[in-house]
Amino acid sequence: MGIERIGVVGSGIMGSGIAEVAATTGHEVVLRSRKLESAEAMRTALERSLARQVEKGRREQADADAALARVSITSDLGDLASCDLVVESVVEDLEVKRPLFAELDAIVGEGTILATNTSTLPVIEMAMVTGRPDRVCGVHFFNPAPAMSLVEIVRPLTASDATIDSVKAFADACGKTAVEVADRAGFIVNALLFPYLNNAVRMLENGVANRDDIDVAMKGGCNFPMGPLALLDLVGLDTSVSILDALYGEFRDPNYAPVPRLRRMVSAGQLGRKSGRGFYDYAR
Ligand SMILES: NC(=O)c1ccc[n+]([C@@H]2O[C@H](COP(=O)([O-])OP(=O)(O)OC[C@H]3O[C@@H](n4cnc5c(N)ncnc54)[C@H](O)[C@@H]3O)[C@@H](O)[C@H]2O)c1
Repeated sequence: MGIERIGVVGSGIMGSGIAEVAATTGHEVVLRSRKLESAEAMRTALERSLARQVEKGRREQADADAALARVSITSDLGDLASCDLVVESVVEDLEVKRPLFAELDAIVGEGTILATNTSTLPVIEMAMVTGRPDRVCGVHFFNPAPAMSLVEIVRPLTASDATIDSVKAFADACGKTAVEVADRAGFIVNALLFPYLNNAVRMLENGVANRDDIDVAMKGGCNFPMGPLALLDLVGLDTSVSILDALYGEFRDPNYAPVPRLRRMVSAGQLGRKSGRGFYDYAR
């Protein structure tokens, strides 16, 4: 089945990015947020992002206009009924995602594939609340979705080959490189990345080095484009704690147990770029 019409649920960092990727690669996109104002804000942000690309000569005006015209917004899940693929990208919490999958299952057509952009949660938990566990999988984009080339396609035990093949073809049509991975917390990238990020915070907490020196060291010493503390700010500290909790819950490896400072920063509302403050301050 060709995937042409995409539903995106959640207008946060990732939902917005996925909507931009899908719309700029020729897909019709229905973006659903609980509040219409959030979806409107996302469309305005998309408009600005496309205008910047035109200014920089990376995109033709007509192409930007067509991409924007392909995005419709709604606060009603019912408007996702005719989508070929729905990508869920709401908060990293099974208590939120599971009921959402059950609700989507009752709304969308029989052939629709339901996918989650979860970073770590068991995809099977979402598949099993639906009547279509063969048509549920993970499609894990990276942040920022328009810039990052990788998509992890996560195969829960129940997914059919046809589902995985269709979602791989979608990733391909989005201009991304797809890798397939089993349904284990953290998949490939986060299972390897998060112990490193967590240990950078531990190093800061233990006074081994200061923030700037940790980030400068990993950029200069490993040729990474950004340091671990700046990367945590980009990911979002709340999302990072949820990812670490899920990894620790699955593997009980102490490297995955969130360093207390991370949790305290989340309690203080210091979530990184999205809240204006994390390890760094961001002018609003
Ligand atoms: N931030 C990243 O770097 C990153 C990368 C890849 C995947 N992800 C995954 O993408 C998903 C979304 O993460 P994000 O970074 O966009 O988060 P975000 O905090 O920017 O956005 C979360 C969205 O969830 C919505 N939401 C919150 N509570 C809800 C509820 N009870 N019901 C319905 N919607 C609710 C919010 O309104 C918001 O639109 C998560 O599963 C996360 O693990 C995040």
